[in-house]
Amino acid sequence: MKTTSVPGATLAVASLFSSFAAAVQPLNVNGANFVTKSSGNRFSIVGVDYQPGGSSGVSATSDPLSDGNACLRDAILMQRLGVNTIRVYNLIADLNHDECASIFNAAGIYMLLDVNNGNLGSYIDRTAPWTTYTNQYLTHVFSIIEAFAPYPNLLGFFSGNEIINEESAVNAPAYIRAVTRDMKDYIAKNVDREIGVGYSAADVAVSLSDTWEYLGCELSNSTSSKIDFFGLNDYEFCGDATFESSGYNKLVQQFGNTSIPVFFSEYGCNLVKPRHFTEVPILYGEQMSVMSGGLVYEYSEGINDYGLVNITSADEITLREDYGFLATQYAKLDESLLTSANTTATGRTAPACDPDLITESSFYRSWDLPARPDGVDDLINNGISNANQGKTVSVTKTAMPATVYDYNGDQVNNLELTILDEQDSNRPGLAGNYTPSTPTGTASATGSQSTSGSSSATRSSSRSASATGSQAAATSSGAAVPMIATSGAATFGAFLASLFFL
Ligand SMILES: *[C@@H]1O[C@H](CO)[C@@H](O)[C@H](O)[C@H]1NC(C)=O
Ligand SMILES: *[C@@H]1O[C@H](CO)[C@@H](O)[C@H](O)[C@H]1NC(C)=O
Ligand SMILES: *[C@@H]1O[C@H](CO)[C@@H](O)[C@H](O)[C@H]1NC(C)=O
Ligand SMILES: *[C@@H]1O[C@H](CO)[C@@H](O)[C@H](O)[C@H]1NC(C)=O
Repeated sequence: MKTTSVPGATLAVASLFSSFAAAVQPLNVNGANFVTKSSGNRFSIVGVDYQPGGSSGVSATSDPLSDGNACLRDAILMQRLGVNTIRVYNLIADLNHDECASIFNAAGIYMLLDVNNGNLGSYIDRTAPWTTYTNQYLTHVFSIIEAFAPYPNLLGFFSGNEIINEESAVNAPAYIRAVTRDMKDYIAKNVDREIGVGYSAADVAVSLSDTWEYLGCELSNSTSSKIDFFGLNDYEFCGDATFESSGYNKLVQQFGNTSIPVFFSEYGCNLVKPRHFTEVPILYGEQMSVMSGGLVYEYSEGINDYGLVNITSADEITLREDYGFLATQYAKLDESLLTSANTTATGRTAPACDPDLITESSFYRSWDLPARPDGVDDLINNGISNANQGKTVSVTKTAMPATVYDYNGDQVNNLELTILDEQDSNRPGLAGNYTPSTPTGTASATGSQSTSGSSSATRSSSRSASATGSQAAATSSGAAVPMIATSGAATFGAFLASLFFL
């Protein structure tokens, strides 16, 4: 069996830096865009949905962010693919997520996390939300916030996923706003940075616009109940569809004046296989710049056959054809288009909630949100007791812990995690060809060195100092980033060629 080597010229650099606890820059929501707080650059989600061990929707009970070896294995392959964000559906608040969150952080990959899971008391029942909107439920939700808020690469939370569909109770939208309100009030009181809270909508065309309008409008007597971003699960682009034939043109019309970021929280129709992902250049092109990117469904193969990779055992993984096709599409993305600040979009403000925003007669059009269950005001004001709070730990292991095969069955060697500088998030072409933005930066190296061994105290102090610290980083990365992106593309092409087309 022939083995394929990945160009490894910068591996020495990677391991030199591997003991530093690197951290991505926190992202904020600014009008209709995600924005990197330190640089002001726009952030577009280049993501995959990540739920190995159980597809979403099936009552998955495993927590993918609690197994460090699996996260290292998957972060390496995602980094090579070019993703900058994962979405994880199923999380258990009491488990230890430090290793996984820190690995993705070091890889420059953000996390979008669902607070609900399939366990009783940990989700809102769409058919009878009033039976599940309880003190116990909100204690679970706040525990998830406590567990993940300390990680700098946390992009945001989904307060609900596909709660509104054909079987929902008519007032289910009011409960989504109530949970959003409670989460944002909890964050404002108990967390020392802004964290966005959004909603992920089902692929149900008839309620899409109303859901977005209902959840995203400004409510003067409950400002915190407005969502910060809107994800839609969208499978309408199949095979060689076009901007028009897929219906993407209608989305651009529909969300053209959005005042919050809108992106695909799932996409990637598999009616035509293998998937060539010809929607990728359209989604990230000028025509669809109103959208903030999307997450491909899904990283690992499950019963519904959407996997980019097949995890055949804990230490063996096969890259499917789709992985290569997606990597090829990602490698062609125009990084400068994706990161350009857009003052039209960031200047948008939400319309006031008004029944006239709602178009379908069957959609709920009142904003009389349910009051908090007994005791929840106390939880918010005092924080929940004995919370399991995550903390970033230094990432020292970078070698691929599993055997990886490409689509042809050839073994792929020399795969390794590339630990990024703190001003960099991952992007196509970066891994395997990475030069730290501050190569001579004794100052920054020493800085990271001194923080690397310590825990959340240091981490959060670096976070609160980010106004000054990151201002400086913005200047140095501003020059370095485009340079790396350009030179990276060519080498990444070679990497792809070696991986898939030899
Ligand atoms: C700027 O944002 C607006 C609103 O989202 C959008 O219509 C426009 O196409 C964007 N312009 C560019 C150059 O991305
Ligand atoms: C994925 O791996 C499993 C276990 O080896 C195998 O049964 C299955 O057929 C594979 N699926 C695909 C689509 O290759
Ligand atoms: C966006 O446009 C739709 C349809 O034209 C309209 O109903 C809605 O009020 C507009 N929203 C904003 C934020 O201007
Ligand atoms: C807040 O305003 C909405 C819309 O006007 C109204 O339906 C709701 O009853 C108000 N809630 C409170 C607590 O006043």
